Amino acid sequence: MKKIAFLASGRGSNFQAVIDKVNDGTIDAEIIALITDRPDAYAVERACKNNVPVFAIDFKSFDSRADYDAELLRVMEEVNADLYVLAGYMRLLDQRTAGCFPGRMINIHPALLPSFKGLNAQKQAIEYGVRISGCTVHFVDEGMDSGAIILQHSVPVFDDDDENLLAERILKEEHEALPEAVKLFCEDKISISKRRVIIKE
Ligand code: GAR
Repeated sequence: MKKIAFLASGRGSNFQAVIDKVNDGTIDAEIIALITDRPDAYAVERACKNNVPVFAIDFKSFDSRADYDAELLRVMEEVNADLYVLAGYMRLLDQRTAGCFPGRMINIHPALLPSFKGLNAQKQAIEYGVRISGCTVHFVDEGMDSGAIILQHSVPVFDDDDENLLAERILKEEHEALPEAVKLFCEDKISISKRRVIIKE
């Protein structure tokens, strides 16, 4: 059975979506850690309710970004997961950490990559005027939101949408897409060829 660790900075609804699928037996995995840079994140409450060990690395308590990054990597190595899931982890990983777990770290992003990388992806999509947006689950590499794409779910963008309405619509799809990708990983159905992800039937 695969061991999964989550990194989250906030509400943790994507984390919860995977917890629910593990709890109902859809995903055969053990969630071994929630790692957070924000001890007050609601994701921490979700972890506690589900007996998931919490590793809080309070970003504010470090003198430098480098010290924080070193501690984060130490904790990630200590928990020793098969899969690391960035689920609303809102800090850019440093190059070293980003490259440390090739093929074993995934991220969910609220846009159809490679469009609208980085923060406020839904706002970027509204401002650009796209008619279709969505979410992407991808492997993490040294770039920002640039790793091989595992799967994408699309949603329409309507004339009277604002970023909040769009974010809500995308979030519903995230809650489907992330558990789907985690399940594929746990069943060893994902392989990477160059930057293309092959999914076994
Ligand atoms: C989600 O929309 C996720 O895609 C986004 O943050 C939200 C976290 O929600 N992540 C990013 O924008 C990363 N660049 P959640 O805490 O309820 O899962």
